[in-house]
Amino acid sequence: MLTTMIQSPMNSRRTCFVSILLLLYSIFPGVFSSGPVTLERIEIFTTHDWLKATPTVYFRCQGENKTLLPDVKKKNVVYTFKGEESWQPLTELTDKKCKRCGFYEEDTVGSDDVFDEWEFCASEFTPPKGRYIRFKGKEFNVTFLCPECKGTAHASEVPEKKKNNVTVVIIISSISSVVFIFGAVAGYKYWRRRKREQDQARFLKLFEDGDDIEDEFGLDHM
Ligand SMILES: *[C@@H]1O[C@H](CO)[C@@H](O)[C@H](O)[C@H]1NC(C)=O
Ligand SMILES: *[C@@H]1O[C@H](CO)[C@@H](O)[C@H](O)[C@H]1NC(C)=O
Repeated sequence: MLTTMIQSPMNSRRTCFVSILLLLYSIFPGVFSSGPVTLERIEIFTTHDWLKATPTVYFRCQGENKTLLPDVKKKNVVYTFKGEESWQPLTELTDKKCKRCGFYEEDTVGSDDVFDEWEFCASEFTPPKGRYIRFKGKEFNVTFLCPECKGTAHASEVPEKKKNNVTVVIIISSISSVVFIFGAVAGYKYWRRRKREQDQARFLKLFEDGDDIEDEFGLDHM
């Protein structure tokens, strides 16, 4: 009995905590969202390796694997993709942190050539589709897609009315989560008090039932 008395409040506290976290996740899905980034369109204006007839172009974010673009072979040709190709998506972006990414070309001698390298951020993608166009003169013009990226709701591009709606939703959900948390804490406290009272009653009953025990311990222990 003693072990259940000790353990059950802990378990209930953990359950309470987990349910609050789950609630927050469901209220603010965007805060924790991350989106796969696909390549929609690319056109290269140059190649860097004089020794090779066709370039080997790849995309890479720091700390991640290379993504070879097997179709991109000619300059000044527009290549469009559906987003379902075997090598897609290129990477995944979160709204918390940018990644340092770039387009490169494998070089037969020496280090690989750089088309461009930049800080790739979810906030750069613009509505309605979550598109990001990156153009670098004489190098390339690329269009990325990330429908789930947080930048899809760019503050400056969201109409005023919609912004107000979003504010109202955030306020209402904050209030309801606070109410929920207070309710959970109050419920937990009530449950603990009830439990304690029951335990005390049971304890007292134990003493009423057994005179021997009463003699040994005395009621002043309570
Ligand atoms: C990179 O590729 C290796 C095998 O080719 C794979 O095991 C690893 O999980 C990949 N890493 C990432 C970040 O995708
Ligand atoms: C780059 O491509 C987009 C289409 O995806 C086009 O609208 C834009 O004009 C292009 N920019 C240049 C400088 O070619």
